[in-house]
Amino acid sequence: MARITASVYTSHVPAIGAALDLGKTAEPYWQPLFKGYETSQQWLKDNQPDVIFLVYNDHATAFSLDLIPTFAIGTAASYQPADEGWGPRPVPTVIGHPELASHIAHSVIQDDFDLTIVNKMDVDHGLTVPLSLMCGQPQAWPCPVIPFAVNVVQYPVPSGRRCFNLGRAIRKAVQSFDADLKVQIWGTGGMSHQLQGPRAGLINRAWDNRFLDRLISEPEQLAQVPHIDYVREAGSEGIELVMWLIARGAMSDSAPVVKHRFYHVPASNTAVGHLILENT
Ligand code: DHB
Ligand code: FE
Repeated sequence: MARITASVYTSHVPAIGAALDLGKTAEPYWQPLFKGYETSQQWLKDNQPDVIFLVYNDHATAFSLDLIPTFAIGTAASYQPADEGWGPRPVPTVIGHPELASHIAHSVIQDDFDLTIVNKMDVDHGLTVPLSLMCGQPQAWPCPVIPFAVNVVQYPVPSGRRCFNLGRAIRKAVQSFDADLKVQIWGTGGMSHQLQGPRAGLINRAWDNRFLDRLISEPEQLAQVPHIDYVREAGSEGIELVMWLIARGAMSDSAPVVKHRFYHVPASNTAVGHLILENT
């Protein structure tokens, strides 16, 4: 049977992708950020999954205000890096896992979650920057990836509680797939950031670190936090953090092992947070 072995949480700031693609990782501004992911890249090499289930949000790239799925699962064989206005990032094509993705769609929809099934889409920085942070600049990504897009851009967005419960349904779906696969689930976005308006540049270190603490030790209670708290405390784009609760909900109910924790400010206008949790 397939099983979820670990979860990875990371911000997905587009400027990080540009820093990598333009060879700027050793510059004083970026060096401390990339240093924080050296452990993570080694951990991923030592703990190779067969599939990554990658929870992220599309930033009006594949979807627009014409069509706003709350939850969308990629069932395609492959996905191209999107052109977000500067040309597509020079990163490998993302290879999908249609069989596992279709199985998860079937199981989760039967479990009362409405998913949009996506057979063709391009993937933006929300998905490619976490892969770059965790894998560096390989010729090919190390394994197939199932993209799972969440609407955190246009209200109404899903609650943390719903995201956490969806994670549980994803865990059940993975565990009922009849192949011996090690699956990692990654939650991306956040941490505190606000990109526009009078509060642009808002960073809240104390709130971010408390979020990391609670994500580790009391995720179910953390899932009760209402949207307004995210927006007030972590900025309008801090709401991306609800996606981390999907990954956390997919972990087993017993306490996880914290393999890595990292927090860094600044990266562009954003606080970067990162966790690696293993199931015991
Ligand atoms: C920025 C965009 C994002 O999607 C994000 O999560 C963080 C930062 C930005 O444009 O700087
Ligand atoms: Fe984002």
